[in-house]
Amino acid sequence: MQLPTSSSIVILTGAGISAESGLSTFRGGGGLWENHRVEDVASPEGFITDPQLVHRFYNQRRAQLRTVQPNLAHLALAELEKAWPGDFMLVTQNVDDLHERAGSQKLVHMHGELAKVRCMLCGEVLPWEGDTQPGTPCPTCGKKKSLRPHVVWFGEVPFALDCIGRALEKCGLFVAIGTSGHVYPAAGFVELVSPFAYTLELNLEASQVASGFFELRSGKATELVPALLKELLAGIQAPVHATGP
Ligand code: OAD
Repeated sequence: MQLPTSSSIVILTGAGISAESGLSTFRGGGGLWENHRVEDVASPEGFITDPQLVHRFYNQRRAQLRTVQPNLAHLALAELEKAWPGDFMLVTQNVDDLHERAGSQKLVHMHGELAKVRCMLCGEVLPWEGDTQPGTPCPTCGKKKSLRPHVVWFGEVPFALDCIGRALEKCGLFVAIGTSGHVYPAAGFVELVSPFAYTLELNLEASQVASGFFELRSGKATELVPALLKELLAGIQAPVHATGP
């Protein structure tokens, strides 16, 4: 791949990038959706039906965050952001905080963040480390039964789609890492980039939308992402002209 250093880069990550840190992916053997019904724990209707269950599900996942660390793939993306001369945006579908703990700053959590809660009455978004229960009062407005995980559930609109769309339209390189391509709108991002952009998928196995990418690389994120970093940084030292896909 040859990329002018003035090009902007958009990276999309999914659960596969955090798998080697010890967090379960959603689909496939041992995935989160094997043991939990999506509609029970990740939908507004599920929250209305059984808020205790939903709080418990996210409490467990929030607690698990404290037991895992960013891996070489998260670290490589943070390093790329710092070194890349052009614009850079990291869009993650993950609600874990491993990208920011690795040092990423130009980061968009399009499906929200486990380490935050939101008050459905006053709208306040708050950093949150411990557990929540239906009776936990909102620290801002004091109301009970109003806190919910600051995550996007099925049927809800992901965050920051406008600014993601603008970045996709003008990027020279779009890379999707560790995402199965089952969930839209993220799965459709590869269709939104300019026809002149280079599109690359890094995944253990080809995603549902793999045919939309110019290049596929198959393997573990902790191997493929550091290798991509090396390739792109080599291009900064010896700039080249774009050849396009
Ligand atoms: P999935 O669980 O659907 O897919 C994970 C992908 O990561 C699969 O394609 C795996 O092959 C790949 N993978 C697993 N281990 C890997 C590794 N070590 N290195 C590289 N790739 C690896 O997770 P997502 O695509 O992120 O949404 O799921 C998308 C959305 O569906 C999630 O954000 C969540 C979920 O329902 C909401 O909850 C709204």
